Amino acid sequence: MSGKTAKLTLPDGREHALNVIVGSENEHAIDIRSLRQDTGYITLDSGYMNTGATTSAITYLDGEAGVLRYRGYSIEDLAEKSNFVETSYLLIHGRLPTARERDEFSKQLTYHSLIHEDMQHFFAGYPPTSHPMAVLSAMVTSLSAYYPDCLDRDAPMDLHITRLLSKVRTIAAFSYKKSIGQPVMYPRNSLKYAANFLHMMFAVPAEDYEVSPVLEKALNQLLILHADHEQNCSTSTVRLVGSSGANVYAAIAAGVLALWGPLHGGANQAVIEMLEDIQKAGGDYKKFIDDVKNKRGERRLMGFGHRVYKNYDPRAKILKKMADEVLEHLGIQDPLLDLAKSMEEVALRDDYFISKKLYPNVDFYSGILYRAMGIPTNMFTVMFALGRLPGWIAHWKEMVESKDTKIGRPRQIYTGEVERRFVPISERP
Ligand code: CMC
Repeated sequence: MSGKTAKLTLPDGREHALNVIVGSENEHAIDIRSLRQDTGYITLDSGYMNTGATTSAITYLDGEAGVLRYRGYSIEDLAEKSNFVETSYLLIHGRLPTARERDEFSKQLTYHSLIHEDMQHFFAGYPPTSHPMAVLSAMVTSLSAYYPDCLDRDAPMDLHITRLLSKVRTIAAFSYKKSIGQPVMYPRNSLKYAANFLHMMFAVPAEDYEVSPVLEKALNQLLILHADHEQNCSTSTVRLVGSSGANVYAAIAAGVLALWGPLHGGANQAVIEMLEDIQKAGGDYKKFIDDVKNKRGERRLMGFGHRVYKNYDPRAKILKKMADEVLEHLGIQDPLLDLAKSMEEVALRDDYFISKKLYPNVDFYSGILYRAMGIPTNMFTVMFALGRLPGWIAHWKEMVESKDTKIGRPRQIYTGEVERRFVPISERP
């Protein structure tokens, strides 16, 4: 509370004072929590363009300045100096771990990496054409059936959090192995989090598999860059579902499903499909951009634009540099990277994109990196989910631990018919 108030004058002349709330980075909000009770009015804000659903101490983002910080640490510092396990600890617990805490957290993640053998049957039940996001969301919900004490509000929260972080990685890799008809590779306790995922994805029983340190580092960085993004669509979904008292697995599964859409996490898949389509059609990207601008064919430049960033997304900046470095190191020349760069160059000089402040977002270059790592296109959104998991968990935890939490229940302005008499069918024309 800032001690300041804003004054609202209603059409009947009544004046209403509303408290002003100021955040630690000087963000201002008008607190309307008493508005309906005191005045009978609600606010209308479809898409929540101006609505703060909560206060939160997890992530700060300034879309005008292109700033992103987790718990006060810049995304640039974390991507360069941290790893995914440490960043997950930071997001969930609010501070960097000591060496002993990090080792213990790592040990617990290793210890909980197996899924119940019976869950293997579920994978077999899905057709090989299933989208891995369908499988992932169903499997995450299914975890609640294997750990039923999650339904108990007093259940050991840390244990469920560890299970989720560790097992979602295993589920993601198993779903890929099943989709290509290979036997699953069990996690290996000697490997760290990201390396273990690469092992489960790419090792085969007949051969030795050495995890490339370059890929391990790149995966750590990719996961860190995706780890949280404050009140985005999937995180808000996790909070909304969690606010009903649904268990943590149910809330996270709902987040996975919200992420799937092409306007959200599904955009990384859509970007690569867009680039491939342009390439197949002869590579005329300028015509594609022209069609987008003139709204021909209802296509957007996927991987561009953001509800909050009205400047270059800092994650995209890091990813663009990483794409150059990783592809060079692996000796890969991907024509899609060149195509993406050319499109970016044209778009950033174009009035349409300049005037609407549309810049590359996190999904524009991430797919090119995943491709170079050997991850198939339909797994990209699963990779996003794996990265976003600690963010979703941190928000769920912050919400359930807050004394201020109420069930999420927006209002509406009804625009349908007013009350009318029911007409029996015999009297209808
Ligand atoms: N290509 C072309 N035009 C665009 C694009 C784009 N990528 N994004 C927005 N616009 C135009 C849009 O047509 C509209 O124009 P007009 O005012 O003439 O109707 C204007 O810009 C505002 O767009 P909006 O849809 O009202 O903006 P929003 O804040 O509701 O949407 C967005 C944000 C991310 C959904 C949108 O920019 C978009 O669809 N981008 C492409 C999909 C994408 O890359 N999504 C990943 C987002 S980053 C990962 C994540 O956090 O989810």
